[in-house]
Amino acid sequence: MGILDKHAILEKSPTLLLTFSLLVVTVGGIVEIAPLFWLENTIEEVEGVRPYSPLELTGRDIYIREGCYVCHSQMIRPMRDEVERYGHYSLAAESMYDHPHQWGSKRTGPDLARVGGRYSDAWHVDHLMDPQSVVPESIMPKYAFLADVEIEGEQIEALLATHRFVGVPYSDEQIEQASSDFMVQADPDADWDGMLERYPGAAVSNFDGQPELTEMDALIAYLQILGTMVDFSTFTPDASR
Ligand code: HEC
Repeated sequence: MGILDKHAILEKSPTLLLTFSLLVVTVGGIVEIAPLFWLENTIEEVEGVRPYSPLELTGRDIYIREGCYVCHSQMIRPMRDEVERYGHYSLAAESMYDHPHQWGSKRTGPDLARVGGRYSDAWHVDHLMDPQSVVPESIMPKYAFLADVEIEGEQIEALLATHRFVGVPYSDEQIEQASSDFMVQADPDADWDGMLERYPGAAVSNFDGQPELTEMDALIAYLQILGTMVDFSTFTPDASR
């Protein structure tokens, strides 16, 4: 009896077939999954990607609270039509500090992964206040109320600390300075040098044009950083990985 004929024994006994199938799947599963427990990081780190500034992080929470992700994805797929419309395809590293990520697959509106810097702050204010005023055929709801809700960042240290708990590398200094970094980002007259050192590339602006710091400021600070952390004029993908 050849070795292959022995397989007939398995094929004729459902119990044996099931036992051996299970064994094969288990071995395959362990080989694929187990290494992930020992790898520190499965994401290739890319220069420029940094944790969100306190104001951006707050804006991100508002984005999630308002369900913007229900209509907007944040993942540009590596296909020609996507890249021509939205810019360089998204890298895993670009959402490595997102908890939870905002990739999504529903696009009632356009992908927002690289919307940062595409429009002025004033455009965003007009658009969020009344989307139809800038894009008449838009079906996006109005978010004018965000400009009336003042924020003070009472919980901002705790918010950063919580993100550190789930793996975002906020330093002690970043957590200590969270409150002031939160305030100065929307106040061009303030002393924001330290904030910019801790969060390179962050937009400093009175985003909504009002003296008060509002949810509108935070949301626009977040929108303006999206997709801008990596400099794609110098980025070359590492093909060996
Ligand atoms: C009901 C679906 C819907 C929801 C919810 C929604 N949007 Fe939109 N959004 C759209 C549509 C449709 C467009 C395209 C037309 C336009 O520009 O208004 C759009 C466009 C945009 C644009 C311009 C994108 C570009 O590249 O031109 C931004 C920025 C934006 N939305 C942000 C947001 C934010 C922030 C929220 C949450 C506060 C949000 N949207 C919620 C449907 C939605």
